[in-house]
Amino acid sequence: MPAVVLVGAQWGDEGKGKATDLLGSEVHYVVRYQGGNNAGHTVVIGDQKYALHLLPTGVLSPEVVPVIGNGVVIDPGVLLAEIDGLRERGIDCGRLLISASAHLIMPHHKALDKVTERYLGKARIGTTGRGIGPAYGDKIARMGVRVQDLLDPGILGKKIEVALNEKNQVLTKVYNRRGIDPAKVLDEYLGYAERLKPHIADTSLVLSQALDEDKVVLLEGGQGTLLDIDHGTYPFVTSSSPTAGGACIGAGIPPTRLTRVIAILKAYTTRVGSGPFPTELTDEAGDWLRTTGGEYGVTTGRDRRCGWFDAVIARYATRINGVTDFFLTKLDVLSGLERIPVCVAYDVDGVRHDEIPMTQTDFHHAKPIYEELPGWQEDISDAKSFDDLPAKARDYVRALEEMSGAPISAIGVGPGRTQTLAIRPLV
Ligand code: GDP
Ligand code: IMO
Ligand code: MG
Repeated sequence: MPAVVLVGAQWGDEGKGKATDLLGSEVHYVVRYQGGNNAGHTVVIGDQKYALHLLPTGVLSPEVVPVIGNGVVIDPGVLLAEIDGLRERGIDCGRLLISASAHLIMPHHKALDKVTERYLGKARIGTTGRGIGPAYGDKIARMGVRVQDLLDPGILGKKIEVALNEKNQVLTKVYNRRGIDPAKVLDEYLGYAERLKPHIADTSLVLSQALDEDKVVLLEGGQGTLLDIDHGTYPFVTSSSPTAGGACIGAGIPPTRLTRVIAILKAYTTRVGSGPFPTELTDEAGDWLRTTGGEYGVTTGRDRRCGWFDAVIARYATRINGVTDFFLTKLDVLSGLERIPVCVAYDVDGVRHDEIPMTQTDFHHAKPIYEELPGWQEDISDAKSFDDLPAKARDYVRALEEMSGAPISAIGVGPGRTQTLAIRPLV
């Protein structure tokens, strides 16, 4: 029956992993529907911390079937290393289902991701270097290698050869790099095939049958709304559709099945990599947010750029995703501030904008118009309910809710599984 989508409302790293994990006890399937191992989702359970990249967060809940949907790009070596790492920690990934139609990240995708970034110089996107963009590029160009190709060594060999015929020309003649040996790649990928075979499935069919049986399916996005290839800050985006619409395509579920869209919203804003970020703080306030919030990339270890909450972005996320509920995270990080600035609109060359400007040129010039809200001094990480929060923290939440255009149904006050204040049920 219900298919629930969970998306990032900002530029990623909002705390999607924690939110998905929390819902794990109430859902039957957790599906990653786009992206790849550019994602880094942290889940803290008791004294154990898990960093997941490709595996859906549902893998940590024994009752949940984790699914990697057709919209994901898979680096099989990374996936197997992640599975092995979890097994060593006592987590069994035997239930994992992988869509036969998902695309594979190949060695030339990783090589091209790194070398094209280098050639872009100052104009670089700041990608994670995991081959994500080139893999999606080949998918759209109809040159991709898919998971199902692992089941047919003849086809796999041919596809690798065709791809490398062209890509080796590019690598050697345009970028002056070494070419890649197709025989070696075939050998490597046939090795992966042996281990991945038992997991490969027609996941769209599995999910459709599950929904017919009234099972609850949670569709877990990577990245965030502003990193969406269509709706984000192009070209400083990822190469897939993390927004709610992408969930249908990337999981093979029709839009009529979706019942709820939960957006994860950080109580301030962060971004990794290049691109416009109106509320970015490049002073001590930004350093304070980074240190206090532990804002360092899970995948690349890079410092995250930090800034105040941006209500224009939140409203945009509501509109693009059809958000039914917000899960506000990291409210605890803001404790101790006298006043908390919140961006309510932009000034673009003297003109007020309540919505994201139509052109990137204008967005690059957007200056935040701030309203200051009173802060609170108390540590709130032990709060158990909304009413436990200091009045000023409650007012901050209500103000954000009002500005963002959808109800805040849960609040994170720490990284732990139990550090969440439930306001209304999410599933
Ligand atoms: P994701 O990519 O959206 O899953 O987010 P990341 O895992 O990359 O980054 C979010 C970070 O915030 C992780 O280290 C989480 O453990 C942590 N986190 C999540 N929710 C909260 C919260 O409410 N408070 C605090 N202090 N940390 C949180
Ligand atoms: P999670 O799921 C934050 C950013 C990169 C870069 C741009 C393109 O943890 O929220 P890519 O390697 O995807 O081609 O890089 O997108 N990016 C992320 N930023 N969180 C993520 O994932 C990200 N995945 C990609 O930093 O700016
Ligand atoms: Mg992350």
